[in-house]
Amino acid sequence: MVTLSQWASAVVCVVAVSTAMAGEVEVLHWWTSGGEARSVGELKKIMQRKGHTWKDFAVTGGGGDNAMTVLKSRVMAGNPPAAAQIKGPAIQAWASEGVLANLDATARAEKWDRLLPKAVADSMKYKGRYVAAPVNVHRVNWMWVNVAVLKQAGVTGVPKTWEAFFADAEKIRKAGFIPVAHGGQDWQDFTTFESVVLGVGGARFYQDALVKLDPKALTSQTMAQALATFRKVKRYTDAASLGRDWNLATAMVIQEKSAFQFMGDWAKGEFTAAGKVPGKHYLCAAAPGTGNAYTFNVDSFAMFKLKDAKAQKAQSDLAAAIMGAEFQEVFNLNKGSIPVRLAMDMAKFDDCAKLSSQDFMAASKAGSLLPSVAHGMAIRPAAEIAIRAAVSQFWNDDTLRVADGLTRIAQAAEVR
Ligand code: GAL
Repeated sequence: MVTLSQWASAVVCVVAVSTAMAGEVEVLHWWTSGGEARSVGELKKIMQRKGHTWKDFAVTGGGGDNAMTVLKSRVMAGNPPAAAQIKGPAIQAWASEGVLANLDATARAEKWDRLLPKAVADSMKYKGRYVAAPVNVHRVNWMWVNVAVLKQAGVTGVPKTWEAFFADAEKIRKAGFIPVAHGGQDWQDFTTFESVVLGVGGARFYQDALVKLDPKALTSQTMAQALATFRKVKRYTDAASLGRDWNLATAMVIQEKSAFQFMGDWAKGEFTAAGKVPGKHYLCAAAPGTGNAYTFNVDSFAMFKLKDAKAQKAQSDLAAAIMGAEFQEVFNLNKGSIPVRLAMDMAKFDDCAKLSSQDFMAASKAGSLLPSVAHGMAIRPAAEIAIRAAVSQFWNDDTLRVADGLTRIAQAAEVR
C-alpha cells in the first residue's frame, strides 16, 4: 500500500518534472475578431493547463496579410516565433527556406497519418516530413443570411441562382436595407469573386480558371459573365464599404441592417459569439449556384526550428494539442469551421457545421471539392497577390470594362 507521504512525494516529483520541462510558446496568428479570439483562447487554455506559458503574437488584419509581413521580418532577424498561422502552398515555401521544425515524432506518436485526410496530411509535409499541424476546415463559398430582413422585405426562401439573388436584392433594397454587407478590402473582394466564378462557371471551370490558371478559361466568355455578375453584386453594397473589416460586415447582418454577406464560415463565429442561432436568427446557405461544390480553407500552424529544449517541448505539446480531439472540438465550435481530424463526433455542432461536413464529403465524391484561391490554398503566392489586386481594381473602378478586367486578371496569373 502507498502511504500518504509516499503519494505526496510522488505528486511533488511529477509536478517538478513537468515544471522543469515547462516552456514558452510564442504563437503568431491574426485571430482578433470576437469569434476568432474566443477560439484561439481555447488553445491558450490547453497549453496553460499543460504548464506552459502562452505568448500571444496577434497581428490584426483579416486574411493575414499583415501577419505574414511581420512574420517575414521576425524570421529574417533570426528570431522566429514557435508557431505561426501559415497555410496552403506557403507552408512548402517556408519549409524550403530550411526554417521549419520536423514534427514527425509528435505526428507518429499521435497517429496523424491515420487521423487526417491524405490530401491534408500531404499539404502539412515537406519532403515527407510533417512541418505543420492543421486546425480546421473552413468552407468559403457561404452566403450568410438574416432571417428577419428577408421577412420584412417579403423574400421567401434563400436565392439559389444569381438571377433569383438579384431579384431578391432589389426587393431588399426597396424595403430600406443594404442587400449585401461587404468589407471593401482586397481579400474580401477576392472571397466574393471566387464564389461568383464558382456559381457562374461551375466546379470544372473554377478549377481550370482559378486553380490551373488556364489562359483560355481566364479570358473566356464564362469569365466575362462572372466579372459582369461580380460587378452587379457591388451595386447592392453600401457606399461606406471601402476598407471595412469583415467582422463589421458580419455585424451588419447580425444587426438586421443587411440581408446577405459572402464570407467563409469564420463569419459564423461572430454569430455564435453574439448568441445568434442558425435557422432562427440567420441562415447559412451556399452562394448562388454553388450548392454542389465546396471551396475549402484549412488553417494550420507551421512550427519553426528552436534551440531551447524547453521551448521545443512546449512546441511539440502545442502540435499534439492542436490535433487532439478536445481542441478540435472546442476550437471549431467557436470558430465556425469543422474539425479536420477524421471521425470526430459532431453531436455538439450546429446545423451549419453539420451541413458543411456533409457537403464536404459529397463534394469530395463528386469531384467538386476545391481549394479556396482567395485564402491561399491553391496557387503560388505571387500569382495570388497579383490576381487579387486585379480583381479589386475591377471591383473598385466602375469605368473599367469587363474586357479590361479579363486581360488584367489573365496577365496577373502569369506573375511568378
Ligand atoms: C482566413 C483564415 C480564417 C479567418 C479569416 C479572417 O484567411 O483562414 O481562419 O481568420 O481569414 O481573418
